[in-house]
Amino acid sequence: MDRRDFLKTTATAAVLAGPAVIGARGANDKINIGWIGVGTRGNAGIDWLKKAAPDTVTITAICDTFQGYLARGKDRVQTIWGNTPATYNNYHDLLADRSIDAVFIMTPEHLHHDMAIAALRAGKHVYLEKPLAHTIEEGFDIVREWKKSGKIVQVGTQNRSSSLYKKAKEMVKQGMIGDVHFVRAFWYRNSTDDNPAWRYVIPPDANEQNTDWPKFLGPAPQRAWDPHRYYQWRLYWDYSGGISTDLLVHQTDIVNFMLDRTVPLACMASGGIYRWTGAGDDRDTPDTFSAIYEYSGKLQINYSSYFGNDQYGYGEQLCGNEGTLEVMNRMDLYFTPQLLGGKAPDRVKARQLVHLNGPKDFGERDGAINHFRNWVEAIRGNEQVIASPEVGQQAAISGHMATLSFKNNKKILWDEQGQKYQFV
Ligand SMILES: NC(=O)c1ccc[n+]([C@@H]2O[C@H](COP(=O)([O-])OP(=O)(O)OC[C@H]3O[C@@H](n4cnc5c(N)ncnc54)[C@H](O)[C@@H]3O)[C@@H](O)[C@H]2O)c1
Repeated sequence: MDRRDFLKTTATAAVLAGPAVIGARGANDKINIGWIGVGTRGNAGIDWLKKAAPDTVTITAICDTFQGYLARGKDRVQTIWGNTPATYNNYHDLLADRSIDAVFIMTPEHLHHDMAIAALRAGKHVYLEKPLAHTIEEGFDIVREWKKSGKIVQVGTQNRSSSLYKKAKEMVKQGMIGDVHFVRAFWYRNSTDDNPAWRYVIPPDANEQNTDWPKFLGPAPQRAWDPHRYYQWRLYWDYSGGISTDLLVHQTDIVNFMLDRTVPLACMASGGIYRWTGAGDDRDTPDTFSAIYEYSGKLQINYSSYFGNDQYGYGEQLCGNEGTLEVMNRMDLYFTPQLLGGKAPDRVKARQLVHLNGPKDFGERDGAINHFRNWVEAIRGNEQVIASPEVGQQAAISGHMATLSFKNNKKILWDEQGQKYQFV
C-alpha cells in the first residue's frame, strides 16, 4: 500500500468507523495539495489555507495557464508555506502526479466540469469553487462522478461555514421569527465610470501565448484571443452565468441552509445591461437583475442585484411573521421582533434585539477559512463536508434557472421528480 492508498483507506475507514482510526496515521502524513487556478480567489486562498490547516496539508503543486499568475502563486507558496511547489500549465499533468491527494479548483465557471471530473477520475479529493458547473446537466455529471468516486468534495459556498449563518439557522429553528414565507436577498455594487463592474485589470504583459488561450477556452466556443474574455470572463455567457451563478447562488444557497430548503419550484427573472453601456463595452451578462423564486412550503425569495448603487450593500433578510433576521454584508446579524404597534403576543414582545458581528463575536471575516478547514478535516475522516456536490448543485440549479428564465423571457419550473426544467 503506498502512502496515497493509505490516506485513501484511512479516510474511508474513518468515515465508516469514526475519527479514532485516523490516529493510526503518522504525524508526517500531510495531505498533499495541488492548486488549479491561482488567479484572484486562488491566490488569496493560498494564505487562507495556511490559517485553516497549518499543520495537516502541504501545497506541493500549482497550475495556472497565465504564466504571470503561476509565478506569483509559486512565490506566494514559498513565502507563506516555506516550500517550493511544482508548477504546471496543464492541469492533466498535475492530476497525473500520484503523490497529490487533493486539489483546489479555482478557475472560471466553464472549466469546472471537465476539471472536477478529471480530478475525481484521478482519485483526488476536490474543493471546487462555486458555481458547481456552467449548466444544470454538467452539475449532475459532477454529482454522479462524485458518488462513484467515494472522494471528499466541498463546493465553495463558504457561507455555510460561517458562524453568523449557523447562528441564524439556529435562531430560525428556535422559532425566533415565527413562520417565514418571504425572504429578500440582494447584492448591490457601484464604481466610478472609469472602473466598470467586472472589468478587472488586464496585466499589461498578457498575450495569447503566456495565457495559453486554447486551454482557457477549453470546452467553450473557439474564438480569437481576447484578453477581456480571459480576465473578465464573468461578463460573457460562454464562461459565466453572470450575476445568477456568480453572486445569487451564494445567497439562495444560504437561504436553503437557514430555512432547510433545496431547489426552487419556479423562477421568473428580469434585467438587462442598464448601467455599463459605454461604447466598446461588449459585455453579455446583465448588470441589473432580479429573480423571484417560489419554494416548497410557501416560501418566496425576492432577489435583486444592481451594479450602479451600493447603498444597501449585500444581505439576506428572512422576514418572519414574528420577527426579522438579517445577515448584512456577511458581517452582521440582526434580529428584530415584529411588535405590531404593541399588539404582538407577549412571548414575541419579550424577545430582545440581537446584533452579532463576525469579526467581533466570532473572530471571522467570513466562512472561507472554516470552509477550507472543514474540507481538510473531512479528508482526515474527522468531519463531514457542509457543502457537498448535491448541495452545490441545488444552489447552482437556482442560478441556472434564473439565467434560463432571463434569456428565454419565460417563467421556468423545476421538476424535482424528473430532475429537469420546463418553461411555462
Ligand atoms: N466563494 C467565493 O466567494 C468566490 C469568490 C470569488 C471567486 N469565486 C470563484 O472562484 C473561481 C475563480 O474566480 P476568480 O475570481 O479567481 O477568477 P480569476 O479569473 O481571477 O482566476 C481564474 C484563474 O484561472 C486560470 N485559468 C484559466 N484557464 C485555466 C486552465 N485551463 N487551467 C488552469 N488555470 C486556468 C486563470 O489564468 C486565472 O488565474 C470562480 O469559479 C469563481 O466563481 C468564488
